[in-house]
Amino acid sequence: MAIMPNDFWSGWIIVITVTSLLGLAWLVLSIYLLRSGDDQLHEEPVWDENLQEGNTPAPLWWFWLILAMMVFSVVYLMLYPGLGSFQGAFQWSQGGQLAERQASYNAEFEPLEQQIVSSSYEALGSNELAMNTAAGIFEEHCSACHGIDARGQAGLFPSLSDGVWQWGGMPAQIEQSIRNGRNAAMVGWLSALGGEGQLQNVAEFVLSMSDGIDAAHPGKRYYDRFCIACHGPNGDGNPVLGAPRLNDDVWLYGDEIGSVRTTIIEGRMGQMPAFAETLDDQQIKLLTAWLLARNSAD
Ligand code: HEC
Ligand code: HEC
Repeated sequence: MAIMPNDFWSGWIIVITVTSLLGLAWLVLSIYLLRSGDDQLHEEPVWDENLQEGNTPAPLWWFWLILAMMVFSVVYLMLYPGLGSFQGAFQWSQGGQLAERQASYNAEFEPLEQQIVSSSYEALGSNELAMNTAAGIFEEHCSACHGIDARGQAGLFPSLSDGVWQWGGMPAQIEQSIRNGRNAAMVGWLSALGGEGQLQNVAEFVLSMSDGIDAAHPGKRYYDRFCIACHGPNGDGNPVLGAPRLNDDVWLYGDEIGSVRTTIIEGRMGQMPAFAETLDDQQIKLLTAWLLARNSAD
């Protein structure tokens, strides 16, 4: 069913509206004219000596008020939509008004957006208004996982203010993390390692890496065999794969032997959702500038 009336129904609406207006005009006018016939008043029948039908004339202000309202409706219907599908002289429409507002919004914000596009990350980072906006975007979209202050949640979501970047801390890499999300994939290694003894050795070796590489450590040969492809010979990690640095004593999943063992047994699949659909380029750039500024301030 069409939402707008078609021509037939539109015609009907016009006929009914105009007829009602004319009828109302006739009614009001006839009451006004009747009022001048004051002499009829005393020809009314009288019952029970003094019981008489009242015929007090309608007051004049009443007549002018209704007349003014009628003139208003006629003028309104000529200017604005209301008579069937007739658009009115102003061609006003809700959609048109929305487009107008959108245009004025764009005119106001386009220069601001251009400013964000052309500014450097440093310039944005020292612009208070830009940083307040970015903090608001972060609070709305990111804080549920990374925390309002971007310090993360131990064992679940990485801190974004410790200067340690699993997927790289260059502006382009941070923007990529936000825009496309990140899927970390480390599978479990227990069966490949071959047993509990090897597992414990590798876990201990991994925990010792931040104190320097001990070439004689019994876990090193397993690490060299199964882990360096992603985490590197010295545990420097690999931002392309999201393999974290293991020699910096910063732990996404905790620094206890138990959590390192769990990581090696079960693997870890941290997932950062993609925001390309939710945020536009300017918002992503603002967030990146905000994260860079937080990390350089520390
Ligand atoms: C549903 C939870 C969740 C939300 C919401 C979320 N993130 Fe993440 N984010 C993660 C997880 C989990 C990781 C770590 C992925 C991994 O293990 O590699 C991550 C990683 C990141 C990284 C990479 C960190 C590094 O060390 O390289 C950045 C940057 C980041 N998030 C920024 C953001 C921003 C900005 C927002 C808001 C627009 C956001 N995140 C929203 C869960 C989330
Ligand atoms: C295919 C590449 C790959 C290999 C091989 C690999 N890892 Fe990982 N590892 C990763 C990735 C990616 C992560 C991050 C997982 C996440 O963010 O959820 C990770 C995370 C870890 C963590 C957690 C670090 C933290 O900050 O909590 C430890 C510990 C670890 N790996 C140890 C090892 C050990 C030991 C081996 C060898 C037995 C190994 N990894 C082999 C890719 C790999």
